Amino acid sequence: MADTERVLVIIPAAGSGTRFGGDVPKQFLPLGGKPLVQRVVERFLFDAVVTRVVVPVLDMLLNAVKESPGERVKFVAGGATRLQSVAAGLAAAGDEFDLVAVHDAVRPFFSPDTFHATLDAARTHGAAFPGIPLPDTIHEIRDEAIASTPDRSVLVAAQTPQCFRIDVLRDILTRAAREDANATDEAGLAAKYGHRVQLVPGDSMNFKITRPEDLVMAERIYAEWGGGEE
Ligand code: C5P
Repeated sequence: MADTERVLVIIPAAGSGTRFGGDVPKQFLPLGGKPLVQRVVERFLFDAVVTRVVVPVLDMLLNAVKESPGERVKFVAGGATRLQSVAAGLAAAGDEFDLVAVHDAVRPFFSPDTFHATLDAARTHGAAFPGIPLPDTIHEIRDEAIASTPDRSVLVAAQTPQCFRIDVLRDILTRAAREDANATDEAGLAAKYGHRVQLVPGDSMNFKITRPEDLVMAERIYAEWGGGEE
């Protein structure tokens, strides 16, 4: 890797979704006593390959966090959608990056090896994402009955960090804004717009915390890992 390569990480955390049923958006629920998003930021900061981490958050939270971070972290105002939050993060980060990783705030157990492999693949191919095979058969449902059963062997579940050369990410965000397109996954959007998006083997530990039982499991893993890097 070139010494001068600059890597930006964007962690969109401006959603107000509280699928857990409480008042706190799930990315701010505590893991080992600190908000999930903070755990994720710290894990990236621990990695010397990362030049800067930008975290788009809700306006009301921006005032609360403005004081804290150091030079490598920046909190910015998010947008109305996930994609707009990623775009806001990219705009606020400045131009001087080569590669950009977009990571879910609710995946605290991503592996540095997978992150580096995904960055490498993005450097070569333009875009890359970690994916894992599906353990369950997936059915498409209509009227509460199976309409079709896609071939499981050609499906993967998409994880993050999803990595892009900055020109590729700019291209897809610009086109999505023009078309008012939305997406939950930037890798899929890049593929839709004709970019090759390379698959990198993901890791089942890199699960997304979306249900209360996921958080219980995460606390257990966190405790077992001896509190992470602390
Ligand atoms: O609500 P949903 O789970 O689809 O959001 C996916 C991710 O995108 C979450 O981490 C959420 O914080 C983020 N997001 C955002 N800005 C929005 C909406 C969602 O950063 N306006």
